[in-house]
Amino acid sequence: MQEILKVINLTKNYLKNDHDFKALDDINFTLKKGDSLAIVGESGCGKSTLANILIRLETPTTGEVLFKDKNIHQYSRQELKQFYRQVQMVFQLPQESFNPRQRLGDSIIEPLLNIGTNKAQAKQILDDLLTKVALPLEIKNKYPHQISGGQCQRCAIARAISIKPQVLICDEITSALDTITQMEILNLLLKLRQELDLSIIFISHDLALVQKLCNKILIMYQGKIIERGLTSEVLKNPQEEYTKELINICS
Ligand SMILES: Nc1ncnc2c1ncn2[C@@H]1O[C@H](COP(=O)(O)OP(=O)(O)OP(=O)(O)O)[C@@H](O)[C@H]1O
Ligand SMILES: [Mg+2]
Repeated sequence: MQEILKVINLTKNYLKNDHDFKALDDINFTLKKGDSLAIVGESGCGKSTLANILIRLETPTTGEVLFKDKNIHQYSRQELKQFYRQVQMVFQLPQESFNPRQRLGDSIIEPLLNIGTNKAQAKQILDDLLTKVALPLEIKNKYPHQISGGQCQRCAIARAISIKPQVLICDEITSALDTITQMEILNLLLKLRQELDLSIIFISHDLALVQKLCNKILIMYQGKIIERGLTSEVLKNPQEEYTKELINICS
C-alpha cells in the first residue's frame, strides 16, 4: 500500500527546569493509505507533541516527517499550502478551535475560501458538509457557545473534511464528550472514512473506540513507541507490561 506519512528518527526536546526533557524519543512509523492508526498512551507521553509536529504546528528537534517522500519541515509556502489541502487535524476541545465571534458557517468554509473557492460555491458546499456530519442547516448561523460539544466537534470535522483531505489527524477528539456522543462521533468517522477514502491518525485513551476504528496501533510510553502492530493482535496478545496494564485499566 502507498506510504503517505513517514516519520523517521523523530525527537523533540523541551526545556524543563533548565534541563532538556525528551518529549519524543526516536519515533519511527509509517502511515499507509487506508490505514487508521491509533496512538495510545498515558497523559504526557508525547501524543499531542507528535500530532503537532505531523501538522507542522511544532518543529522537531531532530528527525524528519515525510509526506509523499518530502520533508514537510522544509516545504516552501506553496508546498505547505498543498500539504494543508491533504492533511487536516481535529483537536480535543472543539469550542476552542473556533473563533468565538465568528458564525460557525463562516468558520467551516474558511479552508475552502483559502484554497480559492468562491463564496457562493463555498456556501453551497457548506450545506452538503453539514448534511454529511448530520447537523441541522441552521447551525451555520450560530456561534460556538450556542451549541453542544458534540455538535461543535461535528462542525470541526466538517471544517476539516471541507477540502477533501487524504489524511485526518484526530487528537483526543472525543475525550471532552459523553459516552453516547463519543460513539456517535466514532460512527461518523467510520462513515466519512469510507465516503472520503480517508487515512486516519486517531489519538485516544479509549481502547474501545480504538478497537472499533483502527486497524493498527502504536503504544507510547514516556516519549517512545514501546509496542506496535495490528490493533486486534496487540490488544489480544500484548507483549509489554505497560500495554497489559493499559488494557486492564480500560476493560
Ligand atoms: N511547549 C512545551 N514546553 C515544555 N514542555 C512541554 C511543552 N509541550 C509539551 N510539553 C511536555 O511534553 C510532554 C508531552 O506532552 P504532550 O502534550 O505531547 O502529552 P500527551 O500525550 O498529549 O498528553 P495528554 O494525554 O494529557 O494530552 C509532557 O511532559 C509535557 O509537559
Ligand atoms: Mg494531548
